[in-house]
Amino acid sequence: MDNLLLVNASMRGSASIGLRLADEMVTCIRHQHPHLQVTLRDLAATPLAPLSAGYATALTAFVAPHDPVFASSEALISELEGCDLLLIATPMHNFTVPAALKLWIDHVLRIHRTFIAGPEGKVGLLKDRPVYLIVSSGGYHRGARARQPDFLSAYLRHVLGTLGLQNVHFVYLEGMAVSDQARLASVTQARLELARQRWFGQLGES
Ligand SMILES: Cc1cc2nc3c(=O)[nH]c(=O)nc-3n(C[C@H](O)[C@H](O)[C@H](O)COP(=O)(O)O)c2cc1C
Repeated sequence: MDNLLLVNASMRGSASIGLRLADEMVTCIRHQHPHLQVTLRDLAATPLAPLSAGYATALTAFVAPHDPVFASSEALISELEGCDLLLIATPMHNFTVPAALKLWIDHVLRIHRTFIAGPEGKVGLLKDRPVYLIVSSGGYHRGARARQPDFLSAYLRHVLGTLGLQNVHFVYLEGMAVSDQARLASVTQARLELARQRWFGQLGES
């Protein structure tokens, strides 16, 4: 494990519970891989430029990947290609991904570059690697307490699969806006679940 890419989609910076858990996960991995290089792609602190008309046209016109119109997309794809592990910390926004994360997806999920479309459907071109998604939500979307649909999980799994990333793990922080007690219970549960997995045993000790 040499390179980790952390994509953050919360605009709450250090107040983000999801980003804090992601930082703890990075610390765990670094403990075992002291030379780990971490790239932070903070979609809130450094917003991506909106997609341009040129990009939209080039995407369907077989323009060469090194064309300047793809510069931002290429930079983001390079970060993805260069990582051994991808960590995405994202809140749920209106039952799905925040706009900032959707924009990142529109930059990295690019036909003829990170996937091809054939008679069997879309096939990812990236080599598989572990992906951890920390999904925080104000309310609940799983189990008996669910009062809302979750359009985020299946969507992100499908997007990542289309890139070629199948080794995907979801970590849910639900009920973040319910009460301090609910927040603590959710974070404790997430830590315990992670602690059962490779790299994150330490999280069960705190
Ligand atoms: C624009 C917006 C939309 C939101 N939509 C939802 C939602 O659909 N369901 C939900 O449970 N929480 C929703 N929330 C609450 C956030 O998901 C919640 O506060 C989350 O814990 C924030 O994560 P963070 O601490 O990592 O920033 C929304 C928050 C914002 C700002």
